[in-house]
Amino acid sequence: MNKQREHYRIAIDGPAASGKSTVSRQVAQQLKFVYVDSGALYRGMTWKAVREGVDVKDAAAVIDLMDRSTWDFLVEDLILKFTIDGVDPTDHLRSEPVRERVADIAVIQEVRAFMVARLQETAAFGDIVMEGRDIGSVVFPDALFKYYLDADPEERARRRHKELLATEGRGDVKEVLTSLTRRDQIDRTRKTAPLQIPLGARVINTTGLAIDQVVQRIVDEVNAHRNSSA
Ligand code: DC
Repeated sequence: MNKQREHYRIAIDGPAASGKSTVSRQVAQQLKFVYVDSGALYRGMTWKAVREGVDVKDAAAVIDLMDRSTWDFLVEDLILKFTIDGVDPTDHLRSEPVRERVADIAVIQEVRAFMVARLQETAAFGDIVMEGRDIGSVVFPDALFKYYLDADPEERARRRHKELLATEGRGDVKEVLTSLTRRDQIDRTRKTAPLQIPLGARVINTTGLAIDQVVQRIVDEVNAHRNSSA
């Protein structure tokens, strides 16, 4: 009888606008793996707090709200989705109130413990590509494939600015750089699971690289492994 193979887990970490979302989505699509955006969970909690009028700097109130809410996860078209108390927050996750507060939510240790546990449970959905800040270091330290994507801050601000223009029709590149640098600073210096290069991760600097090149490299590495262990 065939021994059932272990599911693949691809961890893709990096700072905001390093290209990791686009790369992770495309890698997942090409390999037909489930795509998991771990930041969406932190954004979801932030959305919930804003909606309920809870101050994100009041950790006890945030934890109380988290404990009182029910999260459900499902996979749709190979993308992990979730609801909080039956409501799908997807459309609100990139809004300004959420964007400006999410780094404060992500420093709360109990929130991190809750999200890490939920993210680890998604392994049950099969082969996955998960993007975030602590995936290769905390969520799946044993992942066979770990990548750390980075790019110069100015390049990242330009990319984020372009996205904002496309989604909101406005944005100031200097403001974007300031907000991005502030968020990086919080993410890198927080006590629990700071943004860092996970042990054993392959570092890819995406400044000046086409997304396709990065995607292809990762897909090729995974396929080479699949073929060699088939
Ligand atoms: O990747 P993103 O911009 O959606 O992340 C939103 C925030 O959540 C950002 O401040 C970093 C934090 N985050 C985290 O701390 N750990 C993760 N695994 C993913 C996101």
